[in-house]
Amino acid sequence: MLTIGVLASGQGTNLQALIDAIKEGYLPGRIGVVISDNPQAYALERAKKAGIPAFYLPPGPRKTYLVSEVEKQYVECLVKHQVQLVCLAGFMRVIKRTFLSNFPNRIINIHPSLLPAFPGLEAWKQALDYGVKFTGCTTHFVNEYVDAGKIILQAVVPVLPDDTPESLHRRIQEKEHFIYPLSVKLIAQGQIKYGE
Ligand code: GRF
Repeated sequence: MLTIGVLASGQGTNLQALIDAIKEGYLPGRIGVVISDNPQAYALERAKKAGIPAFYLPPGPRKTYLVSEVEKQYVECLVKHQVQLVCLAGFMRVIKRTFLSNFPNRIINIHPSLLPAFPGLEAWKQALDYGVKFTGCTTHFVNEYVDAGKIILQAVVPVLPDDTPESLHRRIQEKEHFIYPLSVKLIAQGQIKYGE
């Protein structure tokens, strides 16, 4: 059975989607550990409520990434909990070399746009500002670049004339909660090879 580790910085609705999918028997796997770089992350509460080991690991001195020493601590925690696949679920730091070399092609992410359009922060707002008629969300393997790496699945969301950033983000998240568990399920079943 696939053991998943989830990294989350915030609300953790995608974490919840994974928890629910496992509970319902839709996703054949288990979540071995949840780690956050934010002690206030509601994701930690969700994990605890589901009986999953959950830790806040201090992120260290840099705002946008974990320095190598800190990445090592994250990796140690994931390895200790027998994690085979790392799922980033709203984890607000760029993944660097120490992480990637310890989990080659075994880290995936969910992003709220149709990549490669609108990488980076508040992608739903970027889409709205640009005036696209369709946006969506993407699951992908993580590489050394931000919101890059081989795409696993995408879901399309139409932009409506009266959309606000909030309403658009809400509809994108509904699709996220469908394609993230499905992506992990396909990997767990060997239907998508790690990064190949
Ligand atoms: C999602 O929109 C995801 O696409 C992005 O961060 C957000 C996390 O939301 N990477 P949540 O914490 O899972 O609710």
